[in-house]
Amino acid sequence: MKMIKNTIMLMALVLSAPIAAETTSDAPAPAPATAGEIASGVCAGCHNADGNSVIPMNPILAGQRAEYITKQLLDFKATDSAPPKRNSPVMSSMVATLSAEDMKKLGEYYSKQKTIPSQVAVDDEKLVATGKILYHGGNIGHGVPACASCHGPTGSGIPPRYPALAGQHAEYTMTQLNLFNTGDRANDNDVMHKVLTRMSGAEKRAVAAYISTMR
Ligand code: HEC
Ligand code: HEC
Repeated sequence: MKMIKNTIMLMALVLSAPIAAETTSDAPAPAPATAGEIASGVCAGCHNADGNSVIPMNPILAGQRAEYITKQLLDFKATDSAPPKRNSPVMSSMVATLSAEDMKKLGEYYSKQKTIPSQVAVDDEKLVATGKILYHGGNIGHGVPACASCHGPTGSGIPPRYPALAGQHAEYTMTQLNLFNTGDRANDNDVMHKVLTRMSGAEKRAVAAYISTMR
């Protein structure tokens, strides 16, 4: 009975510590992986160890609000909710072995890293200028609220609920705006969905471009 209990405990530890794999049954139980170890292990290939992804389709996590990151990880894991909160086969498999405690620690870890904003050059000044007007003033005629009212005038977000946007890769932002629009991302209490149904494709591109240039 004691052995079974020990085995179950060991399994739980291994599951919550994917980095500290490879242990034999008579070795001492591995210490749970720290957030830094998880981040520089499995996550680093796509987001970089410090969360400053240089791949435009993968979000920059460095400097993001801790509570928001933790919520996203939980949402990726909730694959059985209908409609899915955040439907991403890649990220759902990444979070499968993370415990709630790991997710909390990862949120704190990434929020403490210094952001290196998107270095992807945007050479269309008109597009950026249009995006700037939308971000700070919305489009009153079409009922589009100013992004700044929830994400802050500098794009630094308002914790716990509203994520930072400043310097995020335009390609990632554009993908998310489209996912909110179609309802394939449905973890926002319908707020972003309502905003997006009133925006044109050109407006989405403009605001995504402007956000990537915010510092
Ligand atoms: C194979 C590439 C890949 C790996 C490895 C990966 N991610 Fe991701 N991650 C992505 C992609 C792509 C998205 C965007 C998903 C979407 O919304 O469609 C994403 C999104 C996220 C988000 C949401 C960010 C936001 O702004 O909403 C968080 C948080 C995140 N990943 C954390 C992690 C953590 C923690 C790990 C390691 C346990 C990890 N990722 C491993 C590719 C990856
Ligand atoms: C009424 C408040 C509100 C307004 C106005 C608003 N947002 Fe949001 N936005 C949210 C909330 C809440 C979330 C987080 C949803 C979640 O928990 O995943 C969000 C998430 C996002 C995300 C996802 C960030 C990420 O890292 O994945 C993007 C991009 C975004 N908003 C862009 C915009 C843009 C662009 C505008 C203006 C056109 C805007 N938002 C206006 C409330 C708002």
